[in-house]
Amino acid sequence: MFIAFEGGDGAGKTTQIDLLRARLTAQGRDVVVTREPGGTELGVSIRQVLLHGDDVAPRAEALLFAADRAHHVATVVRPALQRGAVVLQDRYLDSSVAYQGAGRQLDPVEIKRLSLWATEDLLPDLTVLLDVTAHDGRARRGAVHDRLESEEDDFHNRVREHYLQLAAADPDRYLVVDASLPREEIAAIVAERVERA
Ligand code: TYD
Repeated sequence: MFIAFEGGDGAGKTTQIDLLRARLTAQGRDVVVTREPGGTELGVSIRQVLLHGDDVAPRAEALLFAADRAHHVATVVRPALQRGAVVLQDRYLDSSVAYQGAGRQLDPVEIKRLSLWATEDLLPDLTVLLDVTAHDGRARRGAVHDRLESEEDDFHNRVREHYLQLAAADPDRYLVVDASLPREEIAAIVAERVERA
């Protein structure tokens, strides 16, 4: 089973992944926790360039995220799924669709096509969208800002709206949770949905 966690910066994805990992591990499941960008050695280099390097042209940014994803899926995610593990992933293809497609205003349909090519059409079984406003996200992530985080609120509002559209268009594959709820409450909602899936 492949579960992706998505949402704006500061939504609390990492916390929720940790809580779900603990729950599934306690049930004896083989759980792999990973992330994009940066889920492989190559990905760590790409992440550094993307988030902490100099300015990157929007199309180059989209291609670098897609390159990270292609390598990550081929060498980490598919092998884990093939051996029957549950993969919990911090960000996947919808991050590109929302950030590069809607945020950078490249065409979301083209960005999705690029990632599908990169991953040979691998889609999550479930995507958990932790919905956070631009304002709350900024407040929650504190003072440290990477290149994407430091975009203005308009950018983050476009990202959020696009995530919500993606989820509304395909409710069977998405769970949308209000990221401002207490973390234990979010964890219970997520666990209930995962156990039904
Ligand atoms: P993330 O790892 O969630 O940041 P942090 O470690 O600070 O919590 O994500 C890094 C940034 O990269 C985030 O601002 C979203 C952005 N991003 C994209 O723009 N496109 C993508 O395809 C992915 C995977 C991430």
